[in-house]
Amino acid sequence: MGSDRSKSSKNKPRKMIPKGLEAAHSMRDKFRNACATPVETLRKISQDMLSQMEAGLQSDGESRLRMLLSFVEHLPCGNETGLFYGLDLGGTNFRVLRVQLGGKEKRILKQESKVDSIPSEIMTSTNEELFDYIARVLADFVATEGVDCNLILGQKRELGFTFSFPVSQESLNSGKLVKWTKGFAIAETIGQDVVKELQAAMERCKLDMHVIAMVNDTTGTLAGGRYWNEDVMAGLILGTGSNACYVEQTSEIPKWPPSLPKPEETVINIEWGHFWSPHIPKTEIDDDLDAESVHPGQQVFEKLFSGMYLGDIVRRMILKLAEQACLLGGVTEIPSNMATPFVLRTRDVSIMHEDESENLENVARVMETIFGLKELPLEVRKVIKDVCEITAARGARLVAAGIVGIVRKIGGRKKKICIAIDGSLYEHYTKFRAKLHEALVELLGQEAAAKVVIELSKDGSGLGAALLAASHSKKDLEDKCDKQ
Ligand code: BGC
Repeated sequence: MGSDRSKSSKNKPRKMIPKGLEAAHSMRDKFRNACATPVETLRKISQDMLSQMEAGLQSDGESRLRMLLSFVEHLPCGNETGLFYGLDLGGTNFRVLRVQLGGKEKRILKQESKVDSIPSEIMTSTNEELFDYIARVLADFVATEGVDCNLILGQKRELGFTFSFPVSQESLNSGKLVKWTKGFAIAETIGQDVVKELQAAMERCKLDMHVIAMVNDTTGTLAGGRYWNEDVMAGLILGTGSNACYVEQTSEIPKWPPSLPKPEETVINIEWGHFWSPHIPKTEIDDDLDAESVHPGQQVFEKLFSGMYLGDIVRRMILKLAEQACLLGGVTEIPSNMATPFVLRTRDVSIMHEDESENLENVARVMETIFGLKELPLEVRKVIKDVCEITAARGARLVAAGIVGIVRKIGGRKKKICIAIDGSLYEHYTKFRAKLHEALVELLGQEAAAKVVIELSKDGSGLGAALLAASHSKKDLEDKCDKQ
């Protein structure tokens, strides 16, 4: 990749090579070095993940990792029966779903869902506007319930609510918002019980429904995976945001409130988006992105790779290359929207990174569609593809280090550890996924890595929440599995 830098290139005709490409190559190489994650570094990062997880279980405020208690007592096992609803709120899109469960043999008899998107102004408005918006969509969806839905007369509808933000819980169906992340910012919600807010909005909409469980999307994903496979021990989200949870023994949780009943196991929401280790490679670009973000100083791990930010890291690096190393040489002016945050999305990065055509036609297409840049020389396209590759590789390898921290925390409790994963970054970005798996093998070795199985659980978090509503429903406690 650095071969174009040979000294003799000075004497070659430069027609197709934009002025400044050598500077661009050298800046790209510096970026590559600054983002490097050799396996020894990843080992230290995964060790830090493990120690911070342990510290976070000791007591609140001990660690950057909040290690939030979920109060999930029964993970679904397949025995559940009846009609349940799920509501999944975590990014711009939210999903409502309905599921008819038929027990061990018949499992999911029917599943219907609808996706809606939260208007961006509502993401920063008021509690009432946000929760009323959601409750209305849910009420409209409930109104489409068919006669085959088998709701027993007089029975209240029950809901599992996936709320994908850090929440401090004291029971499964209550929890105070610790902070907003991603693009949400409604100051008055912080410290409020979000279940109460949702329940009140449902009442305003005359929707007679009871929230049985409120869980993080990682926990929803874990529950969705566990319904089919009892080896599922962790849930991971690689989407707009990123986070992980896992099944922990309560004997390992010194901060468990002494006044509360203690099940044998529970699910811990790690909130790894806020993780940090001094070994993590970070660049000036990451600092700028953080400083200009909606929540500066927060979720710094997540900002290195999640779907919301990966595209913007690449955009910032391309802009830097254009401004400081004349990457776009022939172009007189740098396109003005190249300075606009988030115009380049992670989806675009994956298209460019995965472009295997000889002339990097997809790179050219993305650059033209988004920035109006026509006929970029191949050498420039290559640099852009390299930037995508460097950024994604760092992110995927950091995720692998995080996963290894969790695997070590679970330890020898299971012969095989399955991790249910959801999120478009993992699902659609093939090279990101491949890098992640490659790094897991590097870190764990072939044999141990084969015992860590990552299973895609598409849209599993909303379904998982509905399944958790079922497994904690008051109406058929006798159907519960004995243990998680
Ligand atoms: C939130 C987590 C969530 C993750 C994935 C993060 O920004 O803090 O609670 O699980 O995004 O949606």
